[in-house]
Amino acid sequence: MPHHRTLTPPERRGGGAPVIHAELRRHYDKLYDQLLNGRPPRDARPVLDVGTGDGLALAAITQGSPLHGVGVDTAEPGHWLGPEGWSVIQADAQRLPFCEGSFRSALMVDVFEWLRHPTATLAEIARVTNGPILVVQTDWEGLWFQADKSAVGLRADRAEVGRDLVRAFTRGAPDQLRGRIHAASAEAGLEWTSSSVATITTDELKPNNLAWDVLESIRRYLVIESAQVRARRFDDWRAELQRAADDGQFTMLLRRIVTLLERRAS
Ligand SMILES: C[S@@+](CC[C@H](N)C(=O)[O-])C[C@H]1O[C@@H](n2cnc3c(N)ncnc32)[C@H](O)[C@@H]1O
Repeated sequence: MPHHRTLTPPERRGGGAPVIHAELRRHYDKLYDQLLNGRPPRDARPVLDVGTGDGLALAAITQGSPLHGVGVDTAEPGHWLGPEGWSVIQADAQRLPFCEGSFRSALMVDVFEWLRHPTATLAEIARVTNGPILVVQTDWEGLWFQADKSAVGLRADRAEVGRDLVRAFTRGAPDQLRGRIHAASAEAGLEWTSSSVATITTDELKPNNLAWDVLESIRRYLVIESAQVRARRFDDWRAELQRAADDGQFTMLLRRIVTLLERRAS
């Protein structure tokens, strides 16, 4: 299954250097603090990054810090945009090629929704991690685009079109996400130290900002990869969102579930 839902920007800017959306910087800074969980960085490494992809989310969280470690992904390593000095290994997180307690922290960003066996996978991550495990998952059900109808003469049926398009993009993402993460971690013998919902909003739509790139991802998936929507239909909706944004009447909202887990003391 293609992993079309991701918040990392498309690899087109910066000549291979990691790009972090300005709207997400504070969120990523907070994730870094949560990963450290009050420890100095030297006590938090090495770090395991599960489902590392091209390393962009890892870079967004750890760039410029003294953390280092290993990224694993079932996919073959491609063009690495993650932090320098990290190893990247092709492996399934359900069977990790590491000894018990090899890592002092673990991170898993936007991977939970793709796991076939979340409980077994979390148990395996816990086996190799002697420290906190930070699980971050975008709650795609909360992805929301709003354009004020009165300001731009937006037709009510167009707003419905927008909702349909977003639904088609997020189809298959798990609902009741927070409950699922808690249930899977409890079954894996983990308890959560903290669990919160990060809400990220932007009222701007301009080239390469977060809302722009999320719309690009939706278009790429619906129009090009799965060809379930005609380009014209998508582009009309997008143009209306742009008019609303130019009038200061646009908002995009998304939520991320952030859970810090720890092995239950036996
Ligand atoms: C949406 S991407 C997220 C990549 C990166 N963490 C980020 O946030 O930018 C999900 C990644 O998880 C990987 N993945 C899915 N199931 C996995 C598993 N069982 N073990 C390791 N990697 C897995 C996919 O290959 C993909 O690269």
